[in-house]
Amino acid sequence: MPVDNSRLEGFYKLPVSERREMLAEIANLKKEHVEAWSSNGELDEDSADRMIEKVIGTYSLPIGVATNFIIDGDHYLIPFVLEEPSVVAAASNMAKRCLANGGFTSNNDDPIMIGQIQIVGCKNPEMAKTEILASKNELIERCNSVDPILVKFGGGCRDIEVRIIDTDSGPMVIVHILVDCRDAMGANAVNTMAETIEPTIEAISKGTVILRIISNLAVHRLARVSAIFTPEEMSESGDDEARGLEIIDGVVQAYHFAKADPYRATTHNKGIMNAISSVALACGQDWRAIESGAHSYATYKNPCPECNCSNCKTYGSLTKWEKNSEDNLVGSIELPMAVGLVGGAVRVHPAAQANVALIGVESADDLAKVIAASGLAQNLGALRALATVGIQAGHMKLHVRNMAVTAGAEDSEVDIVASRLRDSGARITQAAVIEALEQLRIE
Ligand code: MEV
Repeated sequence: MPVDNSRLEGFYKLPVSERREMLAEIANLKKEHVEAWSSNGELDEDSADRMIEKVIGTYSLPIGVATNFIIDGDHYLIPFVLEEPSVVAAASNMAKRCLANGGFTSNNDDPIMIGQIQIVGCKNPEMAKTEILASKNELIERCNSVDPILVKFGGGCRDIEVRIIDTDSGPMVIVHILVDCRDAMGANAVNTMAETIEPTIEAISKGTVILRIISNLAVHRLARVSAIFTPEEMSESGDDEARGLEIIDGVVQAYHFAKADPYRATTHNKGIMNAISSVALACGQDWRAIESGAHSYATYKNPCPECNCSNCKTYGSLTKWEKNSEDNLVGSIELPMAVGLVGGAVRVHPAAQANVALIGVESADDLAKVIAASGLAQNLGALRALATVGIQAGHMKLHVRNMAVTAGAEDSEVDIVASRLRDSGARITQAAVIEALEQLRIE
């Protein structure tokens, strides 16, 4: 269940252990969830040793919680796992700025993944294609026979597509099996089905099957989230329409820059992935699969602005920002989102289980929308900062505690140095941090 309220006044000011207690109460979490978050209750060595090979230890990163998210009318608290300051704060801040219009709205596809089967050596690729398509029903049935549990839960192979591609090794016939993976990410189900139908595919096509593997370009499993931000919400004060309109124009121009220029789009999408990868990692997902799908989709869906023809694509933005007829800012994100709640690390990693429990999602579809909404909010946070004061002001303010530690500050000195520098309004540089620390030690 999502929480009743994601707007947690003063949450950031609490000590870490009190934040955990507050979340446990709000999200009705179990004792083991809270223990999993505390530094020594995370992934034990035996579990780690079962997850991958040649294990020598575990590696920790902070878990921060983004607040203020309302998606499809429900409140969500969203855990991020990452090392970069200002990401969690920016996402929370932007999530608060679309509440006048009800927060984020999702419209995801069904959880359909693609499995690819590569056939080489077909004497007549067109004929092979026709024969495979003619045997579609038999192939779908074979696929479904190996995963009765997925079928029982309403999933299974839905369709078969065939493409012929030209390659340096000559023409290849590529079969796509389209599999509804329900609440699984789907790699195991899809790969098993693809391997199962190999002999049948060889017999039908009279070619040789080589690869049988899932595609991370999950174009049939897109997550889509949008939100509307009023000019007032976009302004610093929260009620300055004229200033908000200026900011909206800046955000739209920043988006147009990313849309037209792959150099900028790469950094623009990096900001989106700051949230998407962090939430995916927090929830025990295969974040590399999500990342490869996202970046590939950024090209797949983006026609080259120079000629705008259907064949020529270039890397572009995963989000879209425009001004509507009421001068509100409308943002949307669309990208493949292969996530699962059954199987994988989410079943064995205690902190991942705690994080999923905090979000309160019970289906992969809901997790997909939460991750996509966090990416949209994150992108706006970056664009809004870039189009106004610049990224360094906010980033450095939040990074200053790390800088104080780097300068050699003791625990008791870190917050004093950080708040003095923030309050001074001076430019935050490593030299300024060292000077503030030296000054504190003289006093
Ligand atoms: C930094 O981690 C992310 C940004 O560079 C994203 C962007 O430029 O849009 C701030």
